[in-house]
Amino acid sequence: VNLSVPVHLGERSYEVRIGAFSPDDIVDAIAGALDPATTGVAVLVDAGLAARSPKVGALLAALAARLPRVERLDLPAGEASKTLTEMGHTVEWLAKQPFDRRAAVIGVGGGATTDHAGFAAAIYLRGIPFALVPTTLLAMVDASVGGKTGVDLSAGKNLVGAFHQPRAVVADVGFLETLPDRERIAGLAEVVKCGFIADPGLLDLLERTGPALSLDEHVEIITRAVRVKADVVASDEREGGRRAILNFGHTVGHALEAASGYELLHGEAVALGMVAALELGAARGIGSRALADRARALLQRLGLPVDFERRLVQQVWAALAVDKKRRGQTIRFVFCPRPGETAFDEIAPSEIARYLPRPTAA
Ligand SMILES: NC(=O)c1ccc[n+]([C@@H]2O[C@H](COP(=O)([O-])OP(=O)(O)OC[C@H]3O[C@@H](n4cnc5c(N)ncnc54)[C@H](O)[C@@H]3O)[C@@H](O)[C@H]2O)c1
Ligand SMILES: [Zn+2]
Repeated sequence: VNLSVPVHLGERSYEVRIGAFSPDDIVDAIAGALDPATTGVAVLVDAGLAARSPKVGALLAALAARLPRVERLDLPAGEASKTLTEMGHTVEWLAKQPFDRRAAVIGVGGGATTDHAGFAAAIYLRGIPFALVPTTLLAMVDASVGGKTGVDLSAGKNLVGAFHQPRAVVADVGFLETLPDRERIAGLAEVVKCGFIADPGLLDLLERTGPALSLDEHVEIITRAVRVKADVVASDEREGGRRAILNFGHTVGHALEAASGYELLHGEAVALGMVAALELGAARGIGSRALADRARALLQRLGLPVDFERRLVQQVWAALAVDKKRRGQTIRFVFCPRPGETAFDEIAPSEIARYLPRPTAA
């Protein structure tokens, strides 16, 4: 079954379609969402995906058969595309074609590609429309939805960017067939996050299936996770308040990700961060031991890490002290008192460090 989740943002509203699609289905959804007077289409493709997935060629052919002036640019695989240098290369390329302000960008790849494509569309000629075809589980459930776009600086990740909403998002689970399992499982961590903050049924479902999900089960979990993100984004497009619940597990997660030198994948770090948040909550009476134990068991069953090495503790402590969400001496931390509920509290970085997941013997 193919499903669709609306993102309600007034005149910037759009649909996220989730299913097993033919190339023509994907093109229909995108073409239907673009202006009929579109003058050209710049397709930005993750080179790693292009090397592994036969679906990329088929999609490009279907786009070219249906839309005007389809040109393709391959981006360096993954995070390597999220630099100002690569952004400069992309916008120079757009100008050289040339694409005018009625052209559109289509990003095809993981979250790095969707962030890059969205940001290129946000800044080229002060903003042109774009659509996304996310090809990793993380990009399908998280990065492609909500309009945050941008690139990294050497001082940190995602420090330059813009809010720019796509016209359409098409998540074709067929792309998951070539995705390395470690990447897919990392994406499951964000689905678990959505379960804890808003849709406890997702936890029950993943406890039943474990990591080996059918395509239909993938469609279901992606749809439910996108619904959670879409609802939050619709109520707080620019992260004034409620959108911050999406940071559950991310305060410690981001710190761990950086402390590991990005050896931990984002989702793996978020798994550890969620355990830390639930343990900290239990210790402060905003949650329970049982809930922290449930998270550990589920994340472990999915193949995600729940314990980390002692060597990271000090580095995480240092990283938390410079967390960009820090306010004065405290951090606004997201807790989960009960499955499907969130609560905020201001807490000191030193206190977070005390409740980091149990270090393993190594
Ligand atoms: N904008 C947002 O709201 C938001 C939210 C979450 C994450 N992000 C961003 O997303 C990025 C992480 O995204 P990601 O986890 O998708 O990683 P990624 O984009 O780096 O992709 C991971 C790897 O998978 C490869 N790949 C992609 N699709 C594939 C497929 N179908 N088959 C085989 N290989 C494939 C890529 O070449 C890459 O090597 C980070 O930059 C993060 O900041 C953004
Ligand atoms: Zn995340």
